[in-house]
Amino acid sequence: MTLKRILFLLFVIAITMKYGKGQKPNNSSAEIPLLDNQNLPLVAQFDTTKLNQVLKIAIKKTIEETMNEMIPRIKQAVLADIGYEPGREKEIPAFTASLTRTRNLGGYEVVIFDKIWLNTGGAYDNDTGVFTAPKTGLYSISTTVMSYHAKYLHCFLWKNNERMVLAFGNDLSTGTLNVVMALKMNDKVFVKLTGFTEYIFGEHRSTFSGYLISE
Ligand SMILES: *[C@@H]1O[C@H](CO)[C@@H](O)[C@H](O)[C@H]1NC(C)=O
Ligand SMILES: *[C@@H]1O[C@H](CO)[C@@H](O)[C@H](O)[C@H]1NC(C)=O
Ligand SMILES: *[C@@H]1O[C@H](CO)[C@@H](O)[C@H](O)[C@H]1NC(C)=O
Repeated sequence: MTLKRILFLLFVIAITMKYGKGQKPNNSSAEIPLLDNQNLPLVAQFDTTKLNQVLKIAIKKTIEETMNEMIPRIKQAVLADIGYEPGREKEIPAFTASLTRTRNLGGYEVVIFDKIWLNTGGAYDNDTGVFTAPKTGLYSISTTVMSYHAKYLHCFLWKNNERMVLAFGNDLSTGTLNVVMALKMNDKVFVKLTGFTEYIFGEHRSTFSGYLISE
């Protein structure tokens, strides 16, 4: 073997080592067959790492465009369906809440109806059990409280510092109050136990609700 030949071989080995590895198709590249002018098969190698990025951007853009287009349409449909837009001034204050778990409450403790079913305007606070009138007007307020097995339950409806009407239950019975109240803006309405420590039945058997009848 001539020196020239050996040098040439070393050169080929060096080139193969340097470039061979990177050119091998791996998991982030794909080969796509092509045909050239002379109908000779060619192969184009695409970097799918970049393809993934391009796809990701395209998909994200499509989703954003779709959402931007869809949201106003969904809003329109909701408006047409329920007749008000949440967060709007014109919406009628109304709430419905119920008690999830059966509770043993202390004397003069406010009943916190924790589960909110409806709370337009957000005037009922399920951290405190208090409904705060968002505007002056005539309100309908209702509560149903259920007593526990072989126990009494006494609950007063309160307006600010004023004790109003009493709901009473005894041994898995319910006491219900339906009252119409003239409330000023920021007046507070809630249900509170009397001086006794008593059980109130949960499982959504005890409820508290109200709504503005007219301003
Ligand atoms: C896979 O291919 C890409 C693009 O050709 C390259 O940048 C990368 O280093 C390769 N990865 C491996 C593990 O060979
Ligand atoms: C390619 O993918 C296979 C299957 O997921 C995996 O076992 C292999 O290690 C991958 N190779 C590279 C070079 O990433
Ligand atoms: C108040 O109601 C919301 C909505 O139903 C609920 O996610 C949250 O846990 C409730 N808070 C309490 C203190 O129960």
